[in-house]
Amino acid sequence: MGGGVTTANLRHAVGMLRFGRNPAATVYDSIGSDFFLALDDGWLNLGLWEGDGSDPSEAPTAVRRLVTRMANDLPAGGDVLDVGNGLAAQDPVIADVASTRHLTALNITLSQLQGGRERLAAARATPVNGDASRMPFAPESFDGVISVEAAFHFPSRPGFFAEAFRVLRPGGVLTFSDVPVLRFPATPRELIAGVAMLRLWGIRAQAAATPLEIERQVASAGFDDVRSSLEGARVIGPAFRSVRARLDEPSAGSAPERLAARTMLREAEVLWEHGVLEYLFLTARKS
Ligand SMILES: C[S@@+](CC[C@H](N)C(=O)[O-])C[C@H]1O[C@@H](n2cnc3c(N)ncnc32)[C@H](O)[C@@H]1O
Repeated sequence: MGGGVTTANLRHAVGMLRFGRNPAATVYDSIGSDFFLALDDGWLNLGLWEGDGSDPSEAPTAVRRLVTRMANDLPAGGDVLDVGNGLAAQDPVIADVASTRHLTALNITLSQLQGGRERLAAARATPVNGDASRMPFAPESFDGVISVEAAFHFPSRPGFFAEAFRVLRPGGVLTFSDVPVLRFPATPRELIAGVAMLRLWGIRAQAAATPLEIERQVASAGFDDVRSSLEGARVIGPAFRSVRARLDEPSAGSAPERLAARTMLREAEVLWEHGVLEYLFLTARKS
C-alpha cells in the first residue's frame, strides 16, 4: 500500500459498497504485505502493550508479546494449526514459544501466504489456503489451534469453533483473540462508526457478538474449561494512540492514505471511547 492505487485497492473500495464472495481476502489483498500502519514489519495485530502507546519503541515488542501470551497456552511439542495467520510474522514466534512439532497456517488470503513465504519457512510451517469455517483437515489432526485477531472475519464463529473442535485431538487446546462488542451502537454517531468499520474491514454484521455470546458458542461446540479475559485497555487503547501519533508523521504513507486512515481511525476511536468495542483472549480445552 506504499505506492499508488492498485487494482486490489479498487476492488476493496468497490467491496465496501457491495461484499463479494470473499470479503476478507479482498481487504487483505488490498492491504498488501507492506501496510504502512503495521506496528512492525509484517505484523497486523494490535499488540499487548506496556504503557499507554505513547512510546513508539514499544510497538514491535507489543505485537510479539500478544502472540507469545496466546502461544503460551498451547501444549508444548505438539502439532499446531494457526488460523488466519496474516503475513506469517507470528508463525516463527508460535513455533518457538510452543516448541511445535509441526505448524500449519490456514489463511483464506492466498496473497498473504505468498507474501509470508519466508517467515513460514523460518517457522517450518505448511501453508494452506482455506476457510476457518470449513477446514480441509482430517478429524483429530492437531494438539493446538491458535487464531490471532481473525475470528470476526470468519463466515461463522460457531462454524469455526465446531471445526476447531473436530480437528483437535482429545486434550487439545484452542486459544484465540477476538474483538467483541459490549453492546450494540445506540446513537446515530455510533451506528455510522459501526457500519464504517464493518464495511472497511469486510466484516459481516452478524459477526458483532458479545464476550458472553462468544464464550457460549465455544462451550456449545463441545469445549470445556473455557477461560477468557477482556484486555482492551492494554490492546486497543494504546494501539490507537500509537497509530494516531504515526499518522502525524509526514513520512507515514501518502497524503491520501493518511487522510483515509485518519478518518477510519476516528470511527474506530468512537467505538472504543464509547465503550462499544473490547478485546477478548479466550482459551478452551477439548476433553
Ligand atoms: C486481522 S488479520 C490478523 C492476521 C494475523 N493473525 C495477525 O494478527 O497479524 C485477519 C486474518 O484472518 C484471515 N482470514 C479472514 N477470514 C478467514 C477465513 N474465513 N479463514 C481463514 N482465514 C481468514 C485474513 O486473511 C487475515 O490473515
